[in-house]
Amino acid sequence: MTTQLLPGFRLGDHHIDVPLVLAPMAGITDLPFRRICKRFGVGLVVSEMIASRAVDMGRERTERMAELGDDEHPASIQIAGADPGFVTEAARWAVDHGADFVDINMGCPVKKICKQVAGSAMLKDERLVARVLEAVVKSVDVPVTLKIRTGWDEHSKNVESIARIAEASGIQMLTVHGRTRAQMFRGHACWEDIGLAKTAVSIPVIGNGDIVDAASAREMIRISGCDGVMVGRAVQGNPWVLGEVHAVLTGAALPAVPTPEMRWLIVSEHLHHLAGHHGIRTAAKLARKHVIWYSKGLHGSAEFRQSFQTLVDWQQMLDVAAGYFLGLGTHVHQHVLHPGPELAVAV
Ligand SMILES: Cc1cc2nc3c(=O)[nH]c(=O)nc-3n(C[C@H](O)[C@H](O)[C@H](O)COP(=O)(O)O)c2cc1C
Repeated sequence: MTTQLLPGFRLGDHHIDVPLVLAPMAGITDLPFRRICKRFGVGLVVSEMIASRAVDMGRERTERMAELGDDEHPASIQIAGADPGFVTEAARWAVDHGADFVDINMGCPVKKICKQVAGSAMLKDERLVARVLEAVVKSVDVPVTLKIRTGWDEHSKNVESIARIAEASGIQMLTVHGRTRAQMFRGHACWEDIGLAKTAVSIPVIGNGDIVDAASAREMIRISGCDGVMVGRAVQGNPWVLGEVHAVLTGAALPAVPTPEMRWLIVSEHLHHLAGHHGIRTAAKLARKHVIWYSKGLHGSAEFRQSFQTLVDWQQMLDVAAGYFLGLGTHVHQHVLHPGPELAVAV
């Protein structure tokens, strides 16, 4: 019998059985990539961040960012903004677009967002945090969740205080990336700071920052006491890492490193979804970075990268990528990773 390390938790009408969350990453975790990640046992996915002011512009790109797949639910749409009026409107829009949960981003460190006192800049103004959260919670009838960093900088960390404000405002789940805004993505995520949030509130706290494998996931859980984990950059070109973390959470045996054939099945399915969702022109641009990430660290990846990044023709991209991954042969060892029931080569 296996014992699940973390039991999962309720979020409104839903139960998150495996508290493994795929981090929202703008330009990366679109619907095609989320579909791939879901295969490896993700319990909750979040859309890329959508600026609250963008929602009433009706842009095709914004609509595409908010699209959730039938197989993704329960799923969250993430919004950002500092104006309670705009953010509540965006929250309602998210629910109209099928969001089971609305996630508010107060962790984004990007200058353009912080200049509008949104994203992580909001952490400096706790009264504004409360106003925005309360307004959003009142405006929708689905659970509202929040994603934060640990504070603006080392001298103004306020993760406990923001966690309490969130809980008092009716937020039902809090994700903490264990870095300050000033750190951007440098240094290490402080998992002890995630623990401060966890002890400050009784809503589920998701730990985020620097999980790269099974061992780091286990260590974050041990140090922070978090109720779930969120994995971001480590999944780029390596969704298999989610299978590892899933195994830690559920007490299952760790999956083995994927064979070249398994890699190609995933890469080709990802490319197929990219073309279907974005159209071939945009898919070709996005595929370049994803496929190069998939090749990272593998035999001959430098030469492959050089030739692949010059390609523009979609069919040629598929052929060259197939040739590379399937040609890896014995250079990738070990076997047996089951990516999912309906996996099909889609070229
Ligand atoms: C390219 C990129 C885009 C990101 N976009 C978002 C976003 O849209 N919303 C958000 O809340 N966090 C965003 N993040 C932050 C991640 O969700 C996550 O908090 C961060 O990468 C730390 O986790 P990790 O160490 O597992 O990568 C982004 C990170 C990266 C690298």
